[in-house]
Amino acid sequence: MKVLLTGADGQLGRCLQDRCPAHWRLLALNRSRLDITDSQAVSRRVALEQPDWIINAAAYTAVDQAEGDAEQAFSVNVKGAAHLAEAAGRAGARLLHVSTDYVFDGQLRRPYTEQDAARPLNEYGRSKLLGERAVLQSLSQALVLRTSGVYSEYGNNFVKTMLRLAAAAGKEVAPTKPENAAGQPSNAAVLRIVADQHICPTYAGDLADAVIDLMACSPPASGLYHYCGAMQLSWHEFAQHIFDCAQRQDASFSMPPLQAISASDYSAPAQRPAYSVLACEKIKGLGIWPKPLFVSLSPVIKALLAK
Ligand SMILES: NC(=O)c1ccc[n+]([C@@H]2O[C@H](COP(=O)([O-])OP(=O)(O)OC[C@H]3O[C@@H](n4cnc5c(N)ncnc54)[C@H](OP(=O)(O)O)[C@@H]3O)[C@@H](O)[C@H]2O)c1
Repeated sequence: MKVLLTGADGQLGRCLQDRCPAHWRLLALNRSRLDITDSQAVSRRVALEQPDWIINAAAYTAVDQAEGDAEQAFSVNVKGAAHLAEAAGRAGARLLHVSTDYVFDGQLRRPYTEQDAARPLNEYGRSKLLGERAVLQSLSQALVLRTSGVYSEYGNNFVKTMLRLAAAAGKEVAPTKPENAAGQPSNAAVLRIVADQHICPTYAGDLADAVIDLMACSPPASGLYHYCGAMQLSWHEFAQHIFDCAQRQDASFSMPPLQAISASDYSAPAQRPAYSVLACEKIKGLGIWPKPLFVSLSPVIKALLAK
């Protein structure tokens, strides 16, 4: 089976390459090999390669940056997705496109299903919502997989940022006084992490497995699905789990003090949903199950600490 992968250098793209099933002939294209905003390049490449499947792992994912750069976010996330859907339609290829929990406004206090109304709060979310609609309107057999809080050993993500900040905080603190050596460093940099936004962190490797399993479904699956990690928690709780896990793996890991703050105290350019937990019942019905956080997080932290 020939599979054309876009955004091959991203977190999901890298994990899909790591997990490529033996029966796939994978054509992994990063942005320099295929820019999905270039409709003619997409059209030519898909017509030339005649893939059985296209996986769109390419996206504009810088949520805050998108507020001041909406044109580029929409170009990649809407037009790029539409170019791939149109080219797939012409070539008779199937398409799996990836979207986000940030299509929701976070007003619900129960997990969002595929039937719930999408009302994005930021430009990134708006661009991803229009992108998934463009795909489903253009290609009725397309698969759209929404996910949440993606992390991995690759690229930029929250886990990597937390470990980097912990390392930087550890270097800032010279334990000169006796009480510092034993307890909380008096001059430690406190990490202020948002505690009133809830997500389900998803390992990109688990997401890649879900993509592969979804594509292999018989009878073939199509339409909108949710897939995310099995545990819902706030960014603050996630940070605590990351540091606990790092300390279990490396006793010398110095855990920085954490302070729970409200999103309103953290003046991010983009507004984010307070609760964007995705219900995964529909995909579970296909035998594809969310993975526990501890199972997935531990090897990622091990890989990142070893770098
Ligand atoms: N990351 C998250 O927390 C998160 C949460 C929910 C949903 N998602 C969705 O999950 C999917 C995968 O996310 P990810 O974390 O793997 O993203 P990622 O690591 O940011 O990777 C996205 C890739 O797309 C590439 N790209 C950007 N513009 C492109 C263009 N015009 N043509 C071709 N490639 C282009 C990027 O290349 P450059 O590096 O050169 O820009 C990057 O390699 C995306 O659809 C995203 O919206 C992500």
